Amino acid sequence: MKDIILNIDPQKRKSHINPEIYGHFSEHLGRCIYNGMFVGENSEIPNTGGVRNDVIATLKHIRIPVLRWPGGCFADEYHWKDGIGKKESRRKMINTNWGGVVEDNSFGTHEFMDLCEKLECEPYISGNLGSGTVQELSEWVEYITFDGVSPMTEERRRNGREKPWKLKYLGIGNESWGCGGSMRPEYYCDLYRQYQTFCRNYSGNELFKIACGPNSDDYDWTETLMTNLNEWNTKAISLHYYTVPTGDWSHKGSATEFSDEEYYSTITKTLHMEELVTKHSEIMDKHDPEHKIGLIVDEWGCWYDVEPGTNPGFLYQQNTMRDAIIAAINLNIFNEHSDRVIMSNIAQVVNVLQAVILTEGEKMILTPTYHVFDLYKDHQNSELVESSLQGFETNGVPAITKSVSVDVKGNLLITMSNCSLTESAKISANLCGFAPAKAEGQILCADKQAHNTFDEPENVIPKEIGEIEINSDSVSFELPACSVVSVKLYK
Ligand code: AHR
Repeated sequence: MKDIILNIDPQKRKSHINPEIYGHFSEHLGRCIYNGMFVGENSEIPNTGGVRNDVIATLKHIRIPVLRWPGGCFADEYHWKDGIGKKESRRKMINTNWGGVVEDNSFGTHEFMDLCEKLECEPYISGNLGSGTVQELSEWVEYITFDGVSPMTEERRRNGREKPWKLKYLGIGNESWGCGGSMRPEYYCDLYRQYQTFCRNYSGNELFKIACGPNSDDYDWTETLMTNLNEWNTKAISLHYYTVPTGDWSHKGSATEFSDEEYYSTITKTLHMEELVTKHSEIMDKHDPEHKIGLIVDEWGCWYDVEPGTNPGFLYQQNTMRDAIIAAINLNIFNEHSDRVIMSNIAQVVNVLQAVILTEGEKMILTPTYHVFDLYKDHQNSELVESSLQGFETNGVPAITKSVSVDVKGNLLITMSNCSLTESAKISANLCGFAPAKAEGQILCADKQAHNTFDEPENVIPKEIGEIEINSDSVSFELPACSVVSVKLYK
């Protein structure tokens, strides 16, 4: 067992951890919306407005702060007017990006905005810049947020919603460098300026406009955006980065069967997020030293080969203890960079990529990744504090990641991951004068390939952590191999 000293200074507050860092993403893709979250009002599966009650309850449990919709690549082919009004007369379309299936538009603006109200989370709408029009996006904002008299609000009222909804987060295009239009950054900037001009603030609603940022390490994209969009009501730019274990998109690797070598290469690729966030932030710092513009990692997670026998266009994959470690690493990175990273959205919430929930008929299971969001949820709205440790390397990667925050009541939350498959660590945390009255902790620890199934839904679930030794201003606890731990120290 390695002895690791973790130094924490609760007095040194670094940045606010926006709850939105714990955000999610739902696209019209595979079984994320249809036959996933949304089963329709007539389903025998208990639902509210067509959305499964069990999904709503489990997302509320982890305090989902924000939900991004309707895509993804789908967003730039989505015409919102097809998704309002009587369901039977809604226009059907082909989902060209994802399996060429028929999209019947039965889940549209009302269904999404109502769902966010039920979840008590912020809606985040990705607008269509790639194949839509300025007028279309402008009218969508008007339809959702305007309280006065206009053709859009009359239509909304006819469709059963008298009062407008609140809409804060509005993305102007998705992956405009790729599926959203294959644009050059200069061209995108001009379009962004044009589109955002016509997305107005109505009836006290204030839009938080998000520009489509870079793919992975495309630093030139960030540089061009920061040069051209600094002044154009840009509140944030996005970043997309997926972990692909093999690095080869034609053979990404299995979600459940992988060697130790593949496991460690997945960790290495995940840790690349640290470099990406650091370097994009450096460019942003140059143009925006006051941090007025945030970085939003609105697509992240593991992307494997689909489960054998499933539609390749549906991106359905299982989720193991490896995914839990990967989620923990990413969330620790985002916390540590919360001076610039103001939101992140794991891809995707149900049945797609690194999902927190999987469903099959009436059954629903929570993945190891879900449990990490549960262990980490008290970081939401807390203040990141200074912490440092001298870790150790395992198979060429740093084994341990961490982040520490203090909440409004003065309680500390320590979250840590240990990706080593063989070495556990004894963590001795020096608290710089903080004397905890009580400590409690939870742990997620299992074999690297362990996962929950519809027959065995509790293979990987959080447990109470073993003994936490409390001294006057220090605590110690074990961080086993292949584990994620959260320790709460009460004032
Ligand atoms: O999340 C799946 C897809 O990945 C999204 O539609 C797209 O934005 C990204 O390439």
